[in-house]
Amino acid sequence: MSESSEEQQQPQASSPRDPALFRAEPVSFVRRGNRLQGRRASAWERNADQYVIEPPRKIADTSVADDFHLDPTEAFGRTAPLVVEIGTGLGECIANAAKDDPERNYLAVEVYRPGLAQLMLKVESFGISNVRAVQANAPEVLDVMLGENSADEIWIFFSDPWHKPRHHKRRLIKKSFLDKVSRVLKPGGTLRLATDWSNYAEQMREVLEEHADFQNQHPGNLAGEASNLTKVRREGMEGFDPEPEFIDEQGGWAPRFERRILTSFEGKALKAGRLVFDLAYTRVG
Ligand SMILES: C[S@@+](CC[C@H](N)C(=O)[O-])C[C@H]1O[C@@H](n2cnc3c(N)ncnc32)[C@H](O)[C@@H]1O
Repeated sequence: MSESSEEQQQPQASSPRDPALFRAEPVSFVRRGNRLQGRRASAWERNADQYVIEPPRKIADTSVADDFHLDPTEAFGRTAPLVVEIGTGLGECIANAAKDDPERNYLAVEVYRPGLAQLMLKVESFGISNVRAVQANAPEVLDVMLGENSADEIWIFFSDPWHKPRHHKRRLIKKSFLDKVSRVLKPGGTLRLATDWSNYAEQMREVLEEHADFQNQHPGNLAGEASNLTKVRREGMEGFDPEPEFIDEQGGWAPRFERRILTSFEGKALKAGRLVFDLAYTRVG
């Protein structure tokens, strides 16, 4: 397996050092190695002090101590609108967005250290200073580290889908997680999601439509024949039996967000013939 396909593989539950075992709630990731080598190791060494926020930990090394509250002005050295990307992978999207949008501060939240080290390489090569990164479990970052109404946007692109029904409880996007997002997002702020797994896309849309604090920015958009959900079900993609009569009357899918660049993860999904669902919701509560 190549390095990149190994990095982007879906997590498998459960390894003996599964971080879920340390926490009351199942987590959306499995532990992967922290070891850095070569260019990534030296990029980390050169940049971590300036760009990586190191919270005091609770138990596991991706946890956040209950009394750690981030002051974004101090962390970024300026006051500016804040975009938080959760699950930044190799940092492709956030680095490009920060480069193209220097007026805003960008916080990368990722449990996988080699991914953050890859982000450090990009920060260096782009010469940007409006990115900070934290290696931590996103629900704890939202619960503890970030203040109420502190983020202008929260992005979660290709959150691990946990395909098997018995693993759906490990999916990030659910009511309890949206409560945390709602606390941190400013009223009027935007939550952006994308996934290449139709069953997870339906779950995202369902929990968001039911949540009183969120309003769809594109109600009814890409419904019926134009819906990727219609295509997936009718054509029997993703292992579903074809349902020739299926129609997604509801729609509500967002157009592709222009700052969501094609990452290597999405590239592989498209190459495998998968379709992508975008969602964008405003915090109204
Ligand atoms: C499928 S990858 C997508 C990466 C990237 N967003 C992209 O589009 O290329 C999902 C990423 O989310 C990270 N992740 C999963 N659960 C997380 C959590 N609870 N907190 C922080 N990061 C998490 C994983 O480590 C992984 O890098």
